[in-house]
Amino acid sequence: MISLSLSALMICFFFLCLCRDLKGNRLTGQIPDEIGDCVSLKYLDLSFNLLYGDIPFSISKLKQLEDLILKNNQLTGPIPSTLSQIPNLKILDLAQNQLTGDIPRLIYWNEVLQYLGLRGNSLTGTLSPDMCQLTGLWYFDVRGNNLTGTIPQSIGNCTSFEILDISYNKISGEIPYNIGFLQVATLSLQGNRLTGKIPEVIGLMQALAVLDLSENELVGAIPPILGNLSYTGKLYLHGNKLTGEVPPELGNMTKLSYLQLNDNELVGTIPAELGKLEELFELILPTTILRVLFLQTSVLALH
Ligand SMILES: *[C@@H]1O[C@H](CO)[C@@H](O)[C@H](O)[C@H]1NC(C)=O
Ligand SMILES: *[C@@H]1O[C@H](CO)[C@@H](O)[C@H](O)[C@H]1NC(C)=O
Ligand SMILES: *[C@@H]1O[C@H](CO)[C@@H](O)[C@H](O)[C@H]1NC(C)=O
Ligand SMILES: *[C@@H]1O[C@H](CO)[C@@H](O)[C@H](O)[C@H]1NC(C)=O
Repeated sequence: MISLSLSALMICFFFLCLCRDLKGNRLTGQIPDEIGDCVSLKYLDLSFNLLYGDIPFSISKLKQLEDLILKNNQLTGPIPSTLSQIPNLKILDLAQNQLTGDIPRLIYWNEVLQYLGLRGNSLTGTLSPDMCQLTGLWYFDVRGNNLTGTIPQSIGNCTSFEILDISYNKISGEIPYNIGFLQVATLSLQGNRLTGKIPEVIGLMQALAVLDLSENELVGAIPPILGNLSYTGKLYLHGNKLTGEVPPELGNMTKLSYLQLNDNELVGTIPAELGKLEELFELILPTTILRVLFLQTSVLALH
């Protein structure tokens, strides 16, 4: 274990010369304030260490910084809002720490940021309507925090997003219709408190490879238009309050390999059309669904 309590003089030498080797080194201690004096730092990756304490505000003095990767440490305290003053920050990855407080709204007013990784902290507050000011962002991940409130109506303006993961928070309200304007490949909303019906527009999100709406409080029928998602490989709708029958249109989802519908209030039989799904590997259905034979899946479970 290496302690970070170095003399101020050593700090810049340490980060400038060694920064490519500082990942996963069992470094412990706090990130020193003096780091702000290493003004030519472009990349700072201290991930997978044992660092604790606050993220120093002085990091915002690193005007050349493009990647700030502090994931998998034991950092506490808030995300400094001054991080928004780093003009060329492209990657901000603070995942798997113990950060608290709100996501500072200023962070969202950044056209350069491409990657925002905040999963696995204890962040609170709501998703700001400003999140779609991130016009260059493709990766937005706040999975596993304590965020509340609703999905902002402005979500449809997040058109550069490719991965949107807000799963395992306490987000409530309905899934906004505007979500249909997104061109994401992954939409992960599972493990929240979402209510209302699955909006039909989701069936128009042709880029979706993964759609996970499981473990919410969604009601109503599975919209047959979901069968139009011809690139979707994983569809998870389990753990809701969905009713009605499984639409035979799901048999049109030729790329589907995982389909999980258990723990709902679905009735009827497994549509024979699902037998057309040649890539279906795992199918998990509620016990209320009558089983039919001749499905080609490797795994068929009834829960
Ligand atoms: C969310 O808040 C609850 C209650 O305060 C707490 O028990 C839980 O650990 C928190 N979860 C996270 C991920 O911070
Ligand atoms: C995008 O933002 C504008 C201005 O804030 C708003 O009027 C519009 O409804 C938004 N579009 C979507 C799809 O949410
Ligand atoms: C679903 O896909 C089919 C075939 O591509 C198309 O004809 C139909 O209009 C689509 N349905 C909707 C509601 O977009
Ligand atoms: C989708 O599935 C339905 C019902 O199984 C079928 O009638 C329809 O022709 C299919 N559409 C396409 C585009 O394959």
